[in-house]
Amino acid sequence: MFGWSKKQGYEVVIEGRSSFVTEPGETVLNGALRSGIAFPHSCKVGGCASCMCQLVSGKVKELTDKTYLLTKEELEQGFILGCQSVPRSNVTLRLPARPVARRDRGSARRIPPTP
Ligand code: FES
Repeated sequence: MFGWSKKQGYEVVIEGRSSFVTEPGETVLNGALRSGIAFPHSCKVGGCASCMCQLVSGKVKELTDKTYLLTKEELEQGFILGCQSVPRSNVTLRLPARPVARRDRGSARRIPPTP
């Protein structure tokens, strides 16, 4: 009755690694770091994709638009940004086998210099 709240944290399982429970409203990345789990990251503001992970199951609320940062294929495969995703249910995530290097993509998008 009193003191009851709908807000709750959720269990986040990182396939083949570990699990932790988020605080209400906490992002996946912040929950992992608070729990002492080495989760790849850099900017923490949705600008680098270092925290990119695949949502295997469950639901998240995304705080920012990720479509400018992830490829069409990554979006279709359910990739999310850990620093911009707040669990809305228990979730299972898969981390990429290798760290994501978005600088490569950024340089590929540059307009070539005129001759
Ligand atoms: S840490 Fe840079 S986008 Fe998440």
